[in-house]
Amino acid sequence: MKALILSGGHGTRLRPLTHTSAKQLIPIANKPNLFYAIEDVVNAGVRDVGFIVGHTKEEVKAAVGDGSRWGIRATFIEQDAPRGLAHAVLIAEKFIGKEPFVMYLGDNILKGGINDFVRNFEESDAAASIMLCKVGEPQRFGVAEVDAHGRVLSLEEKPKKPKSDLALVGIYLFRHDIFGAAKKIKPSWRNELEITDAISYLVKHGKKVTTDVVRGWWKDTGKPEDILDANRLALEMIEPRIAGTVEEGVEMVGRVAIGAGTVVRKGSSIHGPAIIGAGCVIGPNAFIGPFTSIGDNSRLSNVEIENSVVIGDSAIECSRRIRDSLIGKNVHISSADSNVPKCTKLVLGEHSRISI
Ligand code: DAU
Repeated sequence: MKALILSGGHGTRLRPLTHTSAKQLIPIANKPNLFYAIEDVVNAGVRDVGFIVGHTKEEVKAAVGDGSRWGIRATFIEQDAPRGLAHAVLIAEKFIGKEPFVMYLGDNILKGGINDFVRNFEESDAAASIMLCKVGEPQRFGVAEVDAHGRVLSLEEKPKKPKSDLALVGIYLFRHDIFGAAKKIKPSWRNELEITDAISYLVKHGKKVTTDVVRGWWKDTGKPEDILDANRLALEMIEPRIAGTVEEGVEMVGRVAIGAGTVVRKGSSIHGPAIIGAGCVIGPNAFIGPFTSIGDNSRLSNVEIENSVVIGDSAIECSRRIRDSLIGKNVHISSADSNVPKCTKLVLGEHSRISI
């Protein structure tokens, strides 16, 4: 079995963070989203992994390297533009050869891994297997209609009137038949070759397409709120660990991980679950609340922050309470000069969003 991890695309719903960076590298509990996908395919026994890369290819290649960190062989396959998930499959045909493969969208994150999903597929003669998850807003996803035995009856991409509440998770298992199907379909209304259409083609032509359901949780981190949700869920699983220095008088509650070289100054509180990366200075007077991830080399003082992600290399000192926020790299937040009362000074990039 090989794996194809999709790391291209535009990430428009995550601007401004994705103007220059790959959305698959946004950290969830201080680990790039993409790395969770790599770990899942490695744990399922896959060693040959192809990465579809687009305009952020240099950043993705730098993060993955040759793959030896995970014991995999990494191959990068360049896609000239995000022409759809089935297009990504087609350009990977030479890399995949005749082997079955798992396709994993690099902005998906799943609790519990894919081992059972892969094993069931390997033991079956299905042409494809898809993973499904009950969701509140099925119109945001590919939606499956299934019979009582879990066999697929129909699939639709982001339907206005969904036939069920079962979303397609961005993790798919395929045998060679998918290449023939992807060659037969036409681009959709959004001008993409949709993988849902290729799988529908298999169903219509009598091929067996099986389903599996998510037992833990699953997130597609397409929007900022999804990243905060995924961060919250991933933080529930972190191992407590103090590799830095915590000064006396710091209040620490619950599960907290602190990276090497980080100093937490007295008068600060950290309420887990929370993770703080390496080389940070926290405090004086910082409150890091539950469900917060602070990336490497950040400095936070005189601030309260809760249910938020600070990606890293940032300085925050503003005598404010920050909540439900996603803060990119190299961001500086400070208090305005005291002689200029009631004033907010901003330098915000294109597509920034703030609530004051
Ligand atoms: O996350 C699950 C959903 O993923 C499924 O329910 C949908 O059926 C499926 O079409 C897909 O929908 P999205 O609209 O979320 O796909 P998105 O365009 O965000 O692309 C998913 C990932 O694949 C993302 O990491 C970017 C990458 N990608 C996407 C396209 C279209 C590529 O590498 N190349 C591409 O051409």
